[in-house]
Amino acid sequence: MTELIQEIHRRLTFAIISHPDAGKTTITEKLLLFGGAIHIAGAVKSGKTSRTAVSDFMKMEQERGISISTSVMGFEYKGRKVNILDTPGHADFSEDTYRGLSAVDSALMVIDSVKGVEERTRQLCVVCRMRATPITTFVNKLDREGKDPMELLDEIERELAVEVRPATWPIGQGKLFKGVYNLLDNKLYLFRPGEDQLPVDIVEIRSIQDPLLDEKVGPSLARKLREDVDMISGVYPPFDRDAYIAGRETPVFFGSALNNFGVRELLDNLVSLAPYPTPKKAEEREVPPEEPRFSGFVFKIHANMNPKHRDRIAFLRIVSGKFERNKMYWHVRSGKTFRTANPTAFMSQDREIIDEAWPGDIIGIHDTGTFKIGDTLTEGENINFQGIPSFAPQIFRTIMNADPLKEKQFHKGLNQLAEEGVVQIFSKIHQPNARVLGVVGQLQVEVLKSRLEYEYNASCKYENIDVSIAHWITSDDEKILKNFVDANSRKILVDIRGNYVFVSDSEWSLNRVKDLNPAIRFYSTSEMVDKRA
Ligand code: G4P
Repeated sequence: MTELIQEIHRRLTFAIISHPDAGKTTITEKLLLFGGAIHIAGAVKSGKTSRTAVSDFMKMEQERGISISTSVMGFEYKGRKVNILDTPGHADFSEDTYRGLSAVDSALMVIDSVKGVEERTRQLCVVCRMRATPITTFVNKLDREGKDPMELLDEIERELAVEVRPATWPIGQGKLFKGVYNLLDNKLYLFRPGEDQLPVDIVEIRSIQDPLLDEKVGPSLARKLREDVDMISGVYPPFDRDAYIAGRETPVFFGSALNNFGVRELLDNLVSLAPYPTPKKAEEREVPPEEPRFSGFVFKIHANMNPKHRDRIAFLRIVSGKFERNKMYWHVRSGKTFRTANPTAFMSQDREIIDEAWPGDIIGIHDTGTFKIGDTLTEGENINFQGIPSFAPQIFRTIMNADPLKEKQFHKGLNQLAEEGVVQIFSKIHQPNARVLGVVGQLQVEVLKSRLEYEYNASCKYENIDVSIAHWITSDDEKILKNFVDANSRKILVDIRGNYVFVSDSEWSLNRVKDLNPAIRFYSTSEMVDKRA
């Protein structure tokens, strides 16, 4: 086996997705703990202070009082190099989260057993489905009185359109939570509350009829478990790894991250089942990781991580071949070569300089304005990777410079922050100089305003416009598209890549336009229309 193949088989790159408060941060910490990336067992609480230990980006975010970035953390576990993409956990919505999903090969979905499937999880799952990303599910907070597990599984299947396959099954819930029965290895994992209870008590039973089960969890819960297991084997076919890899089926684990329960089994399972780096689609062709020639794409840019230095970090996902420090690479968009002197890896709290990186790895490249989100680096081939979409904004404002003396700073800041993906900027057909700001969540508007002030010394003002729904449009027939754009020019915006976006003020008027124009296709992400998406 070549070194490249060996390194590919070692890699495991996944994102954690969930609705805020489901327990993503807690799970991330526990995963890092099991992976040895942080060492303070028992001291790793989900308290706000210990969270700063997780990554230095988060520290920055805490200083600013909000979570704005997607951080990457790597560690070694059971011979595999695990890369976790931690997507923002706070209520602010950032498109970063979605773009981050283009840089991973699978996802871990965390669901709160009390709340069930929530809005953000639903949105993120749509993106996973679009890309057939395999999903592993962790139902968290079993130490609380939550929904019935069967009901939860039905909800996941119904709302997220993915088939579920329970891998473990809870015994009791809330105050009566006794642990889980592992349906894959027929072992009992007994629960003892308390955050520093490591490791978990594991009891092997001969079969589900074993009287030891009654002894360990009590006769009534043992009876209930037997009924449940009987039902599960009747309802769900056995787990099929191919269906999981294709994104059609999700194994479901139950546990309590806060109590350190169920997370190690989850990690063990991810390490043995989750896919290693997968081929990525480019506009021109599909690029397999085994290809010896290096390629990678930028899925995130974080500007001014340290406001004292104007530093910008481009996050690059390696798709194929071996990346080497100081080697000249081809920057496809500009058609120029590019050399990286100080690429960094993200290993838990440290950012360290690396000499090489392999498919699946995510590295940070110091950037002085060369990169835009979606850019590709190669050894010379012109490839453009797909899957870094912009999402249809739901909030629109006309944005204007508020300080005539700071015109230059205003435009520079606006452009850079749009490139970074903080907001989307559009222009109007008839007023090419007017700028319309589009965001998916209100907090992005506030982040933009404060970052313009804080980092660019510029100020802005907004005006409301009567638009709430936007769709990228395309047509097989260029002439029809042009006629549509001309006829509806007051409702057309142009994004920074020159794609048309149709805006309307209500679902009703949008549907009317759709009905009247069957040759026009409407999309809620730019992925399908953007040649360079
Ligand atoms: P997030 O990143 O998905 O937003 O969730 P986070 O881990 O911050 O967890 C949200 C809240 O849920 C936290 O409580 C956390 O302690 C709690 N939590 C996480 N896992 C479990 C669990 O297994 N059982 C129970 N009962 N609670 C859990 P908080 O009070 O909001 O924050 P904190 O003050 O504890 O930090």
